[in-house]
Amino acid sequence: MTATLDLDRLRSDTPGCASRIHFNNAGAALMPRPVLDAMTEHLELEAEIGGYEAADARQDRVHDFYAATAELLGCSAHNVAFAPSATDAYARALSSIPFASGDVILTTQDDYISNQIAFLSLRKRFGVEVVHAPNRPEGGVDVHAMAKSMEERRPRLVAVTHVPTNSGLVQPVAEIGRHCRRLDLPYLVDACQSVGQYRVDAGEIGCDFLSATCRKFLRGPRGSGFLFVSDRALGAGYEPLFIDMRGAHWVEFERYAPVETAARFEDWEFSYANVLGAAAAARYARGGRARRSPASCARAGSIHL
Ligand SMILES: Cc1ncc(COP(=O)(O)O)c(C=O)c1O
Repeated sequence: MTATLDLDRLRSDTPGCASRIHFNNAGAALMPRPVLDAMTEHLELEAEIGGYEAADARQDRVHDFYAATAELLGCSAHNVAFAPSATDAYARALSSIPFASGDVILTTQDDYISNQIAFLSLRKRFGVEVVHAPNRPEGGVDVHAMAKSMEERRPRLVAVTHVPTNSGLVQPVAEIGRHCRRLDLPYLVDACQSVGQYRVDAGEIGCDFLSATCRKFLRGPRGSGFLFVSDRALGAGYEPLFIDMRGAHWVEFERYAPVETAARFEDWEFSYANVLGAAAAARYARGGRARRSPASCARAGSIHL
């Protein structure tokens, strides 16, 4: 990515650069002008014609959020769900795993704090066991030891944070993913600090779920994020615990049918200004590069519900 960066253009596109040096991309980056414009224009349209009408009028740009995010992740638009935050996306993915007492979650020593708290909450409620794979002496998870735990414990879920928040560590998520695919284990990746900073290809990683925010290295607005859901997970029927009328059709009084796409993991209500801001951020991050056709959408292999 760095070889093609035009720093003067990037600076002139970024209103905040005029008055400060801001290094907090790991928190929330300065938004570039196209993101700000997409959002303020939409808020003005909402004020003028109403929120529902504005979302209808901007359907094409709403759809572009899914297309642009899919291009970033090397998947298809139907694998992408909008979420208000990375934690929200992650929790929806976690809630789709039908945990039972004694199930194992296999994770690392360096997983994100809120993820670890969620695992402990699952332990409190369902009696799952949380197993932390050891680190190598030089840091980073010991993939060999982790693969051994996968074979011995057959975890219900493997969960890894790609770039943990504080240390600069980059975990070998694709190497771990190859073991998950070999053993048909559901695999959840927290890519909150890597999307926008590194090339993140969901198919190459071999994950079933991947969560991220748009406000960090993608430079999108606060209140925007997404969840990638593989075709394997969709096909196996994974659905969030609290599925709403966007994620499912109420087909009979006693029955609902989940939708086919990752919209299954969305709620009906969104901040559409944030969706359009996130779409503009994904396009901006791609730097106008030509669209490429979706590579692997993580279809190969299977996982069991
Ligand atoms: C690695 C990692 N995962 C998840 C999150 C949570 O993201 P959000 O605040 O959008 O829920 C963060 C936030 O800093 C993070 O660094």
